Amino acid sequence: MSENKKFAKLNGFPASPVEVKSRREHTKSIIVSHPRYQKIMNRIEELHFYSSGSLQAETLFLYGETGVGKSTVLEEYTERFQREIIDGITIVPILYNKVPVGATPKSVASSLLSSLGDPAYDKGTEISQTDRLLHFIKVCKVELIIIDEFQHLIDRDTRTVLRKASEWIKKFSDDANVPIILCGMPESKRIFEHNEQLDRRFLDKEEIYGFQYITKEEQIEFRTFLKAVDEDLPFYNRTYLADKKLSDKMFYATNGNPYYVNKILVEATAFAAKSGNDSIDENHLYEAFRRIKNSKRPFVTNPFTNDKFNLFDAFELEQNKNKKLAKNIG
Ligand SMILES: Nc1ncnc2c1ncn2[C@@H]1O[C@H](COP(=O)(O)OP(=O)(O)O)[C@@H](O)[C@H]1O
Ligand SMILES: [Mg+2]
Repeated sequence: MSENKKFAKLNGFPASPVEVKSRREHTKSIIVSHPRYQKIMNRIEELHFYSSGSLQAETLFLYGETGVGKSTVLEEYTERFQREIIDGITIVPILYNKVPVGATPKSVASSLLSSLGDPAYDKGTEISQTDRLLHFIKVCKVELIIIDEFQHLIDRDTRTVLRKASEWIKKFSDDANVPIILCGMPESKRIFEHNEQLDRRFLDKEEIYGFQYITKEEQIEFRTFLKAVDEDLPFYNRTYLADKKLSDKMFYATNGNPYYVNKILVEATAFAAKSGNDSIDENHLYEAFRRIKNSKRPFVTNPFTNDKFNLFDAFELEQNKNKKLAKNIG
């Protein structure tokens, strides 16, 4: 179990650029089906299942900070149901779409049409595009619509934008009569405050969080996640990321956000492979962390290779520096 036989030993010989690249890609693609991920997956499965043949399709609003794994779950679910061509018609069981930056209802309709393969996706008015979209949803036998990056529909935060966007979504979800999942950053919740009808239509709102690390259970959950990631790292030997000390450091470095966990490991993979190592060690993690700049944490310190690292002290030190800065500015 402590060896990953899929990856040859490097025995101190630096991996070739092609090999480094392929190992980096492998690390990038690691997905762990951790309990919270599984919970969201089950919610989506249920929503999909309950809605088929039902009078009114179900809806769900998912929200959470960037990097917690929203798109990962949604994309995984979408990939389970492949598109296929039957009698010249493309069947699209799940229509998954990311709202582009600065979108309007018209551009969302247009981008959904494009996902469905309509060559004239950008032609027509908002109304005619929406009508065509509703038509194609039937023709392509769409069973579930997922609209990700929903916050971009209200990038310009004016009353008119919020009203128009919320009215469009409300009408669209009624007319499509297909279950819809809206997903976005926490600020996209604002759209529901502006339209009571939409709020009632999307009563089911669920927040997705990153990992926490306060209680014993939370620490076990994060360490179990790290263990699963570690077992899939593209090296012959394991890193023991889930050891208490290393896991404390990983939590401090990432605040429990899977995006940062992955970023650090992708860079560390490259450092380790380039130096011919058969596992990632703390020096690689140190170098990887140095590369990654999180502008939200200007005072974060590099925990790796620090023998005296203490999680509580490290967070406290960082917080004090933040407070001092706030005081100097204010
Ligand atoms: N279940 C998971 N297992 C492993 N890594 C994950 C998982 N979920 C997310 N990640 C990592 O975090 C990154 C960001 O996830 P993403 O789904 O894009 O977040 P969001 O959509 O919430 O901003 C992913 O590219 C992946 O590397
Ligand atoms: Mg996303």
